[in-house]
Amino acid sequence: MSKFTAVSFARYKASGTRIVMCTAYDVAQARIAQAAGIDCILVGDSLGNTTLGLGSTVPVDVDDMVRATAAVSRGAQESFIVADLPFMSYQASFTDGMYNAARLLKEGGAAAVKLEGASKAALTLTEGLVEAGVPVIGHLGLTPQSVNALGGYRVQGKDEEAAAELLAGALALDGIGVVAIVLECIPAELAHAVTAAVDCATIGIGAGRDCDGEIQVFHDLCGLGGDFRPRHTRRFTEGGQALTAALAAYAAAVRSGEFPGEEQTVHVDAAVVERAQSFVDSVLEGDDTGA
Ligand code: KIV
Repeated sequence: MSKFTAVSFARYKASGTRIVMCTAYDVAQARIAQAAGIDCILVGDSLGNTTLGLGSTVPVDVDDMVRATAAVSRGAQESFIVADLPFMSYQASFTDGMYNAARLLKEGGAAAVKLEGASKAALTLTEGLVEAGVPVIGHLGLTPQSVNALGGYRVQGKDEEAAAELLAGALALDGIGVVAIVLECIPAELAHAVTAAVDCATIGIGAGRDCDGEIQVFHDLCGLGGDFRPRHTRRFTEGGQALTAALAAYAAAVRSGEFPGEEQTVHVDAAVVERAQSFVDSVLEGDDTGA
């Protein structure tokens, strides 16, 4: 299979090959995602929820994203890695946005960046990045960085006006040259219409089956989210339960004295320890010849 790159989004869309994406936030998850044949890994600012235990993505900053992106890049060296520009990393100024995107590429090793919304700041930055040769992914619908303005995590684009606004945003991003647009939590019919209207690929999450690809959060797919079970996802394994059982088995083995066993143990000749002991004794007695 050839390596997935920025141009693969358009090729996959043209050939009807569905694009598979998931998030990852550290080396171990990145290795797993790459080994599983995931086409493209997103270092999402959802790391605020999944990894840092925050209530939203709003507090996530550029340093958080750079550190996580660098770890994922080291764990999945063959993969196409996209990093999120976190909340307020570009809204204050275009220069901030260019600088912060550059950090995600230069320090984090990302190949592309994703940013939420189709505001003036988002469109201007997208234009600057595309012009500078940076692949950009847009993100419309439920944009979690705007949770305070949206009044919660709700399905978006349900009425005519909201649907038209979303479609207009998608066309604007597409016109600038994004490689893909994530469509989060919108009705399937609207996702279908956007997918048909734009040249770039659409990547759904809670957006039905008609997008050009799908993205899901690693922790949701692997059952690592505790009791949190969003409607738009499916647990393909109960990883939390499997890992809890593994650690409980470890604890039991330590307590019973069964672990560590012979396999985890290194030995040395008893004479070495005896000589070390007599050296320590002589030092403690003040005889520094060690004899
Ligand atoms: O941060 C994230 O994980 C995302 C995906 C849910 C699309 O933006």
